[in-house]
Amino acid sequence: MSQPKILVVEDDPGLAGQYRWAFPGFTVLGAQNRQAGLALVQKERPPVAVIDLGLPPDPDGVSEGFALLDGILKLAPETKVIVATGNGERRNAMRAVASGAYDFCEKPTDIELLRTIVDRALRLAQLEEENRALADGAGATPIKRIVTASEPMLKVCRAVEKLAATSVPVLLLGESGTGKEVLARALHELGGRAKEPFVAINCGAIPENLLESELFGHERGAFTGAVRQSIGKVEAAHRGTLFLDEIADLPHPLQVKLLRVLQEQVLERIGGRQPIPVDVRIVSATNLSIEDDVAVGRFRADLFYRLNTVIVRVPPVRARGGDALLLAHYFLNRFVREMGGGARAFSDAAAAAVTQHDWPGNVREIENRVRRAVVMSEQRLIEPADLELAAAAQSLDFDLRAARHRVEREMVQLALAHSRGVLSTAAKLLGISRPTLYTLLETHGLAATAAAPPGDAAPPAPS
Ligand SMILES: Nc1ncnc2c1ncn2[C@@H]1O[C@H](COP(=O)(O)OP(=O)(O)OP(=O)(O)O)[C@@H](O)[C@H]1O
Ligand SMILES: [Mg+2]
Repeated sequence: MSQPKILVVEDDPGLAGQYRWAFPGFTVLGAQNRQAGLALVQKERPPVAVIDLGLPPDPDGVSEGFALLDGILKLAPETKVIVATGNGERRNAMRAVASGAYDFCEKPTDIELLRTIVDRALRLAQLEEENRALADGAGATPIKRIVTASEPMLKVCRAVEKLAATSVPVLLLGESGTGKEVLARALHELGGRAKEPFVAINCGAIPENLLESELFGHERGAFTGAVRQSIGKVEAAHRGTLFLDEIADLPHPLQVKLLRVLQEQVLERIGGRQPIPVDVRIVSATNLSIEDDVAVGRFRADLFYRLNTVIVRVPPVRARGGDALLLAHYFLNRFVREMGGGARAFSDAAAAAVTQHDWPGNVREIENRVRRAVVMSEQRLIEPADLELAAAAQSLDFDLRAARHRVEREMVQLALAHSRGVLSTAAKLLGISRPTLYTLLETHGLAATAAAPPGDAAPPAPS
């Protein structure tokens, strides 16, 4: 990997030289004034910049320094700018940070301190960069609005893409918040009906006595209050797609009526005598329990089979590998973009907590927690508490040696328990020699248990 770049804008040649030596791990880009500094930012996009406030033509004031700070943040808002201020000029330092500087450092410069600030700034810039890369590239799928890198979910996307070209009824089954509605829209938008209406109705959200009229419409005078004719959702979706959300909540009498529409492709408005031909593509969605509803007769089997020519099972987030973190990054970037404010990133602890959480509310839960964190926290680094997640029990540990060590210890303990402390038996269970077992006991600070018969205990630990 190439060295990270750092821009130093300093008009004092002595100090500039000092800075050059101060960052051995960096490629130091030097400039003596605002124009030269901005040119370098544009060309090189350094993640970190250290700038002096007093620059020519105003070396004793701060106007050039602040203009430079503004310029950098406009050109490259991701750059972390550290401002060097004169001793005791706290006010300028505060003003700089308020205008978007990452941090400040008082002159005469304490190089050790500056190095620490620069290292932290670089680390943050890198985290943010990783976040962006994750959010932009990795999870893009053929269906815009669906972010995933997981095989089962990609399979769902491919299926939806194929099914969009047809008009067969599709039933989307999945836990709440898994993206059923997004997929239903994709079935419509990627198909030949895209220019026709997409009409959605939530069968669980509308009281039964209103639902019939909502779905099928009514003629004037069909019932008290029906002061004029009304077109129902089914009719409104003519030539397009009708999305029946929470289909399991459709009351029994309406199930019969909907079945008729599907079978005969005609509907009658309430109080109407004329059958009206309709051509709609039906997409329905519900959580998984509809199969039980059918089994116990709560949902008509004949309608179920009409609706589910194809069943698409949408996996929960916890079955999508690393998607939770990918989605969290995606929403973080989206909300930061929408709400403005500087770049943000998840701390390592937050990333671990996101990965280990179970996400019963699936994508919607991720969306909500990240939105809340972006709104509520003012820090650049988002922590588990901002997401209202417990810190992960363990930070994610990819250290193979530590893992081996852990398992080894557990196995030795298990074998000791099984052999009731008889070391020869334990060694046999573990498939190792007795001397090897002694070594392991010592390494892990384990004592052979008391039950060991005399002569079969571990030798006394060397003092
Ligand atoms: N894979 C994804 N990538 C990005 N955003 C997604 C993804 N899946 C879902 N979303 C977003 O998550 C939210 C919930 O999705 P959606 O409403 O489609 O879920 P649902 O399965 O219909 O949920 P419910 O059963 O609660 O109605 C929406 O804001 C949606 O845009
Ligand atoms: Mg929904």
